Amino acid sequence: MTVTPLQKFRNSAFVEGLHTIADQTVGWQSPSNIAIVKYWGKKNGQFPLTPSLSLTLSRATTRTTVHAFRGGPGKGLVSVNGDANHPFLPKMTQLLAWMSEEIPVLQETTLEVVTENSFPHSTGIASSASGISAFTLCLLDLANTILGTGVEPGELVHMASFASRMGSGSACRSLYGGYAFWGESPLVTGSSDAFAVPVTGLVHPDMVSLKDAILVISGKPKSLPSTLGHKGMEGHPFYSSRIVQANKNMEEALQALCANDFEKLASVAENEALTLHALIMSANHGTLLMKPATVEAVQCIRDARRNGLPLFFTLDAGANVHVLYPSGASREVEQFIGDALQPLCEEGRVIFDGCGNGPVKLNESLSDS
Ligand code: PMV
Repeated sequence: MTVTPLQKFRNSAFVEGLHTIADQTVGWQSPSNIAIVKYWGKKNGQFPLTPSLSLTLSRATTRTTVHAFRGGPGKGLVSVNGDANHPFLPKMTQLLAWMSEEIPVLQETTLEVVTENSFPHSTGIASSASGISAFTLCLLDLANTILGTGVEPGELVHMASFASRMGSGSACRSLYGGYAFWGESPLVTGSSDAFAVPVTGLVHPDMVSLKDAILVISGKPKSLPSTLGHKGMEGHPFYSSRIVQANKNMEEALQALCANDFEKLASVAENEALTLHALIMSANHGTLLMKPATVEAVQCIRDARRNGLPLFFTLDAGANVHVLYPSGASREVEQFIGDALQPLCEEGRVIFDGCGNGPVKLNESLSDS
């Protein structure tokens, strides 16, 4: 068996009498993230085709508690928010099964999950990144508590980045505040395809306080599940050129972040966003995810930047638009958003967020607000 970051748990067996599973509850809050350089396409299973780089959000979070007990209706994950058929169950069950191979004690337990997002669904904020990273932290924390493994918080977060990747690739970047980098690259020492690493220390402080206003162009669920989307890169006509382009964009994005070069970051981020959509459109059975208002917002943002306003856009795999700007320019940019962009949004919905600090453990009483 290969050595993985979860090795410590594999070596610790559950011993009746020494360890107890009865009524353990742990809780974590974890943020979503928005990619500047996109992860699109996989290789060799759950490894990324190219490196990606994201900004961790602050207010868009998932709060999850996992309650573990022995006995009950059956082993494994039995309910999410009291619902035995909850739509999150299949993805969480799949991740739990994979983690149980590495951490056998998780097979001994019956688990109930309670989870809640601070943001509405289908608003262009990746709920899988926050949801899966919060759930993974809970499972590892539970194993640590039950087995008394003594894993320190920093190591737990590293383990969670490694494991959450199996549930959702982008989730592995949500474990770190500021900027996180995922994918093996000579550009970042210690980077890996198997987990994300924080790169905030390399980044100019002004870039760490960027704001992100999410324009909710459409609240309808996106029509392309990301598993299917990543599959579209297999045999894609632009497969090889995408690898070259993403690595070049990554180099430029890192340079821009270190040098506080806003124009350069804007140009790379917008190129990445439009490339993501171009790849989706030109895949076999290509899908068009942008709406007319998406295109209008994109044009409006570019015109405003040409006229001197510091802002740029990025897009996830959906119609909604993320508008990024320096916190020092909040007043002018938010005025512009209200005047020019908010009217393009469904029911005028804009979600104001910004760069955040990463996951937090909910306290013992699990009553933090
Ligand atoms: O983590 P997944 O499998 O949902 O894929 C996310 C892909 C994008 O959000 C479109 C890009 C990214 O890097 O986050």
